[in-house]
Amino acid sequence: GSLARYEAENATISQGTVATNHLGYSGTGFVDYTNVSGSFVEWSVSMPAAGTAKVTFRVANGTTTNRPMDITVNGTVVAAGVAFNPTANWDTWQDVTVTVPATAGINTIRATATTADGGPNVDYLTIL
Ligand code: GCU
Repeated sequence: GSLARYEAENATISQGTVATNHLGYSGTGFVDYTNVSGSFVEWSVSMPAAGTAKVTFRVANGTTTNRPMDITVNGTVVAAGVAFNPTANWDTWQDVTVTVPATAGINTIRATATTADGGPNVDYLTIL
C-alpha cells in the first residue's frame, strides 16, 4: 500500500493533551500523554485490504527511561510493551515500527501507556 500519515492531534486522546512546546513536529502539534498508566491515543485508519500493516509511530522521549506502550488493533493487543526508548531530548523524534494484523476498511489502532510515566510524546503514525 501507499504511505498514509495520521496526526496524533487529530486522533482520539484519552488522558493526554495536544502540545506545541517542542520543535520538529508535523501538523499542528503532538500529543503529550498524561504521566499515568492507561493514557492512550487511538487512530482510525483505512486499510485497502486485509493482511499485515507496518505501523510506524513518530515519537520523542526526552527522558532517560523507556516509556513502553501496548499496541491494540480493533481492541486486541497485537504488540505488548513495545519499547519507546529515550531520544536525545524532547525536540528529537524517532520512528518505532510494529507489524500488525489488519482487516479491510477502517481499523482502530490504539497506543496505551503501561507505566506511570505515561507514553512518549507522539507526533503521528504512518501506515504502510
Ligand atoms: C516534559 C515535556 C513534555 C513531556 C513531559 C513528560 O514536561 O516538556 O513534552 O510530555 O515532560 O514527561 O511526559
